[in-house]
Amino acid sequence: MRALVIAAALAAAAPAAAGPIDAPGFTKAFSCSACHGRAGATRADAVPSLAGMPAWYLKKAIDDYAAGRRPSPEMEPFSKMVKTLGVDEVAGYFAAQPREASQIKVDRTAVVNGRAASATCAACHGEDGRGDAAKGTPDLTGQPPGYLLNQMKLFKAEKRSPGDATLTSIKVFMKSLDDATLADLAAYYSSLGR
Ligand code: HEC
Ligand code: HEC
Repeated sequence: MRALVIAAALAAAAPAAAGPIDAPGFTKAFSCSACHGRAGATRADAVPSLAGMPAWYLKKAIDDYAAGRRPSPEMEPFSKMVKTLGVDEVAGYFAAQPREASQIKVDRTAVVNGRAASATCAACHGEDGRGDAAKGTPDLTGQPPGYLLNQMKLFKAEKRSPGDATLTSIKVFMKSLDDATLADLAAYYSSLGR
């Protein structure tokens, strides 16, 4: 009997093999997976991947949504919720997940045309498209093409972060490009890392 109690106590004390649900922040990040995919690897064309996203960028986006600066009916309530739960832990969780490129198909010709049109983008987003914390630019690689295109159209229409003076030059530049070129650029950046 005594041996049994000791064995049970030892079993309880021994750490269980760490699985995906033991990762720090997993529980708080769980509700995000319904839309952003398991461990933040999206399967949808309209929703971005969070896996591998640098913590500083995720936190900036959450702040912008929560304050209503970046209007999104989907994200505003979840941003407010995650700020209450603890955004640092959630940001740390997603930053630690491996980025998986979107599975949504992209057209080869669009990728070639997009690469040709990407020189100005590279000045801010990097030659490899992986973004630059110093310039405040996100990693575009492997994101779904539909999401990338939609964000560019939102910039163009002054609907993403309207009135934000720090983003004026980006919006001016987006307005100078037609929607077909924006679609080519979305295909190109989505294709990187596949
Ligand atoms: C109901 C579906 C849904 C849920 C749940 C959801 N999101 Fe989102 N999320 C979206 C959509 C749609 C977008 C794109 C919105 C836009 O146009 O800006 C988005 C965008 C984002 C972005 C911006 C990414 C970028 O590249 O700029 C971040 C960061 C984000 N979500 C984090 C989260 C976190 C963290 C959670 C969980 C607390 C969460 N989301 C829950 C639908 C959702
Ligand atoms: C002057 C620097 C600059 C240039 C040039 C620029 N961007 Fe950006 N881009 C940014 C910044 C900064 C952000 C993040 C905005 C924010 O914090 O909401 C961004 C965000 C984006 C996003 C949204 C990504 C996401 O995860 O939500 C896309 C898509 C994008 N840029 C594509 C492009 C493309 C394609 C080009 C070239 C046609 C381009 N950008 C040129 C600075 C730039």
